[in-house]
Amino acid sequence: MKIAIPKERQPGETRIAASPEVVKKLVGLGFDVIVEKGAGEEASFTDEAFKEAGASIAKDAKAALGSADIVFKVQRPVLTGANNELGLMKKGTLLVAHLSALTNAKDVAAYAKAGISAFAMELMPRISRAQSMDILSSQSNLAGYKAVLDGANEYGSAFPMMMTAAGTVPPAKVFIMGVGVAGLQAIATAKRLGAVVTATDVRPATKEQVESLGGKFLEVDPEMEKDAQTEGGYAKEMPPEYFEKQKAVVAEHIKKQDIVITTALIPGRPAPVLVTEDMVKSMPEGSVIVDLAVEAGGNCPLSELGKVVVKHGVKLVGHDNVPGRLARDASALYAKNLFNFLSPHVDSESKVLTIDWEDETVTGTLVCKDGAITNETIKEAAAKAKPAPKPKKKKG
Ligand code: NAI
Repeated sequence: MKIAIPKERQPGETRIAASPEVVKKLVGLGFDVIVEKGAGEEASFTDEAFKEAGASIAKDAKAALGSADIVFKVQRPVLTGANNELGLMKKGTLLVAHLSALTNAKDVAAYAKAGISAFAMELMPRISRAQSMDILSSQSNLAGYKAVLDGANEYGSAFPMMMTAAGTVPPAKVFIMGVGVAGLQAIATAKRLGAVVTATDVRPATKEQVESLGGKFLEVDPEMEKDAQTEGGYAKEMPPEYFEKQKAVVAEHIKKQDIVITTALIPGRPAPVLVTEDMVKSMPEGSVIVDLAVEAGGNCPLSELGKVVVKHGVKLVGHDNVPGRLARDASALYAKNLFNFLSPHVDSESKVLTIDWEDETVTGTLVCKDGAITNETIKEAAAKAKPAPKPKKKKG
């Protein structure tokens, strides 16, 4: 069976869905692996390294995708224009990628129509067995780390307290909003750099996690937060009364913060607004907000996708694809996630791939098969063909 790894064609994508290490493992499982020429360039993986690992190099996307039985991708395929990738895949191909399927139901309908079986890896169930397949975790962890470095880079002062002969530099005050995978890594990174760290989240379980990393938890309303988590471990959309309370608590706190890193997301919904324009105005001159939720609409209405802007004397950092800013590690971990998803379905002796269609990691991620959409939420969304929650537009 052939697995193809094409060069990513969505604008700004630096990652690749394979690493030489994972190619070697796939070859060991009996797959023929085809990597498109130059596909790993931006992640510092050369064609030679892939060849050494046992892959063959295809000269273009057509050569890579045309004969593939399985396609590993980072982002969802391009469906139109000169870069149309879906059109190059044959009927029956298994597509494994971060499809952003809940917000791109029309794309899923197009995969179904093309006879592709598609697995949306972002829908991986949050069960312990699937932790090693969880692309959201592996990428968010790196994004949380990089957000702190990006914030530190834009900040005109130091993070740690420094007592020097010329005077004392006070430690930076860093406030993390949203303590999921990215937020936890941001807390750990900011602490390592010597900042004084506070954090908040709607899920009550996070209080202990923040404290165990040496941060201080900012409480909003423990009573309302009792019901804030879904069975899948994600945050629910909170009622307006909660947002009012949160606003009041955060408004008081944020005035004294130097760096704010926002990571709050609700799957399939626009990101909640947590930092209002008035809050931005209240922050000290030269402070920094890093909005990691900018692609989902942003936790701060003033941040702009793909840009660093200054508003009311505050720097707003809105980089898109933050994991892609650490392309090598992000690709390596992402590729491992995909390998860990596929490999349990390969018989180690006969090397035959037999997908267990009843497996929870398969039923959870499968969005279309045999010409039909298999995920009910996406099926309804595709039927309504409602426009998806839009990311912020790049200005200028
Ligand atoms: P996420 O990226 O969906 O959201 C980030 C954070 O924002 C979450 O902690 C969420 O509670 C918070 N948030 C949402 N709305 C908010 C609001 N209005 N105000 C403040 N905070 C808000 O979450 P992520 O990082 O994917 O993690 C969610 C949970 O899943 C965590 O408990 C994590 O440990 C768990 N998890 C479990 C895995 C497994 O068992 N396989 C794998 C990965 C994560």
